[in-house]
Amino acid sequence: MRLSRIISSPLALVAGATSAAAAGWEFVQNGTSGIIALEVMVVSPTLAIFFDRASNDPLMIDGHAAWGALWNFETNTASPLRVITDTFCGSGAFLSNGTMISVGGNIPANPAALDGRNGVRIFNPCADATGANCTLFEDPTNLHLAETRWYTSTARVFDGSVMIVGGIHEDTPFYNTDPVNSFEFFPPKDNGVPRPSAFLERSLPVNLFPRTLALPDGTVLMIANNQTIIYDIEKNTETILPDIPNGVRVTNPFDGTAALLPLSPPNFTPEVLVCGGSNSSDQIPALQLSTQDPASDQCSRMVLTPEGIKKGWQVERLLEPRTMPEMILLPNGQVLITNGARTGYAAVASVGDLVGNSNADHAVLTPSIYTPTAPLGKRISNKGMPTTNIERMYHSGVTLTPMGNILIAGNNPNSEVVNDTVHASEFRVEYLNPPFMSEARPKVLNMPSKIAFNRQFTMEVDIPRNLKASTIQVALMDLGFSSHAFHSSQRLVFMDAKLSLDRKTLAVTSPPNNRIFPPGPGWVFLTIDDVTSEGTKIMVGNGLAPPVQDQGVPVRIV
Ligand SMILES: *[C@@H]1O[C@H](CO)[C@@H](O)[C@H](O)[C@H]1NC(C)=O
Ligand SMILES: *[C@@H]1O[C@H](CO)[C@@H](O)[C@H](O)[C@H]1NC(C)=O
Ligand SMILES: *[C@@H]1O[C@H](CO)[C@@H](O)[C@H](O)[C@H]1NC(C)=O
Ligand SMILES: *[C@@H]1O[C@H](CO)[C@@H](O)[C@H](O)[C@H]1NC(C)=O
Ligand SMILES: *[C@@H]1O[C@H](CO)[C@@H](O)[C@H](O)[C@H]1NC(C)=O
Ligand SMILES: *[C@@H]1O[C@H](CO)[C@@H](O)[C@H](O)[C@H]1NC(C)=O
Repeated sequence: MRLSRIISSPLALVAGATSAAAAGWEFVQNGTSGIIALEVMVVSPTLAIFFDRASNDPLMIDGHAAWGALWNFETNTASPLRVITDTFCGSGAFLSNGTMISVGGNIPANPAALDGRNGVRIFNPCADATGANCTLFEDPTNLHLAETRWYTSTARVFDGSVMIVGGIHEDTPFYNTDPVNSFEFFPPKDNGVPRPSAFLERSLPVNLFPRTLALPDGTVLMIANNQTIIYDIEKNTETILPDIPNGVRVTNPFDGTAALLPLSPPNFTPEVLVCGGSNSSDQIPALQLSTQDPASDQCSRMVLTPEGIKKGWQVERLLEPRTMPEMILLPNGQVLITNGARTGYAAVASVGDLVGNSNADHAVLTPSIYTPTAPLGKRISNKGMPTTNIERMYHSGVTLTPMGNILIAGNNPNSEVVNDTVHASEFRVEYLNPPFMSEARPKVLNMPSKIAFNRQFTMEVDIPRNLKASTIQVALMDLGFSSHAFHSSQRLVFMDAKLSLDRKTLAVTSPPNNRIFPPGPGWVFLTIDDVTSEGTKIMVGNGLAPPVQDQGVPVRIV
């Protein structure tokens, strides 16, 4: 095993022995993923699932290369997961009853796999901490999507089902030339008939992996190419919002990324942040594009209320251009911006001047932090952030973990595993550790494992004595599903919390209803004075199979 430890400041090395509090953010490399971790999702306190293409990964199962794996956070090892259909470039989400689904995929390169394009793979909650007895269920003949979908997106919505958006039917070298311009749901709605989308039609040919975000009133924000809409699932209507400014396009193969910023009581005002991508024309043939074309450094942010939409997008600049960045919500309300490259595009071996097989070049190796509450121009910083030596460009995955640090894996701008090239396949797993990982942290000693909407509940906590508790944040999070520079279903809803005088209990109020936090599994993190606890997995809502009824009380989103 190759181990490397990269510490942000040389001082931290010296100080490490005497004062853990002096440590900053750090990258720690530990373990290898066995398969390319191009899709990543946390499924239990100790496990994450990785999916890749059915090709030639080193991890084996049943005498052939595996394309699914369970990553064990305790041992930092990957074990193979038996998968029937090809998961390559699919997506996934949790349902309201705690079951995870993986959907979409590819025509397999490896004959051990079946066509995964209309695949639905079911992973029921699994209590086995090691994952040894955890299995994926598939029945391709009887359980599948209505359409074949490669490069499709997902979002868990207000009734606990999963909306499945767009994609392409067949292999494409680059642009979406054989589109699936429709939405469908799991479990199916409308007797399984997909809903056509004028938005997906308009946003061709750069509309793969549409950035799809469930809003707190139950509608869905969608961004594809440089266009934006709000889709109303109940009325089946699309409302056009302003384009992303300055011709910047943010979906595959011009990947930028998008996230719903943390929602806070009492108003839960939704704001979207979109960063990176490319301002190249989407009419240039792929062979005339270059790996050296600068990516966009633009972030665009909009408040998603009638007044906010009237004001439109507010533009700010990343510290560097990034194609294929990913944004991770942190339990203290900040946003980590990581991964990606300064130049080029997503996808493999399609532009005119490849570097190895990569369409992108000049990996960005230093993450940034975005502070949503800071004034414009002062929100983005990489002060104190470490620099890694491992590229994370196309086919990388990243997620917040139950421990509160960030797992980063993958990178494969090649169509299968290729080791002996520039921008080679990457198996090394890294953690990006926030400073609090080496400090005394708050602990959640006890809390309900299931919470209803609009209720008060109690958390028993242990708060280190050195913390004054001048800020108390209780974050309810969906850790989302990472695929192709987008973290679908990722969400953070802050809950009002009052600390008892003896600092041993918190009285917490759950989100008002199932539109503010789509019902299903979540993780609760407690942050005291910027020091975050480990996450506690809970069920939010009635825990029933979708579609579930509205729960809690309505609120007017302003
Ligand atoms: C690539 O390298 C990994 C180890 O880093 C090895 O396990 C695998 O067999 C190699 N695969 C190929 C196709 O060379
Ligand atoms: C890597 O992970 C293993 C298993 O958790 C642990 O024992 C080891 O200390 C870790 N190494 C580093 C450098 O963190
Ligand atoms: C896995 O399942 C087997 C057979 O049902 C059982 O004997 C074993 O205890 C289980 N292991 C774990 C870690 O749950
Ligand atoms: C969005 O892209 C279209 C098609 O390339 C272009 O006509 C339009 O001007 C762009 N919008 C903005 C705001 O740049
Ligand atoms: C396109 O993006 C590049 C790189 O960020 C920038 O230099 C250029 O000015 C942008 N062009 C337009 C028309 O906005
Ligand atoms: C959750 O619901 C889905 C869809 O109805 C079903 O396939 C799955 O088995 C259910 N999970 C559990 C744990 O009952």
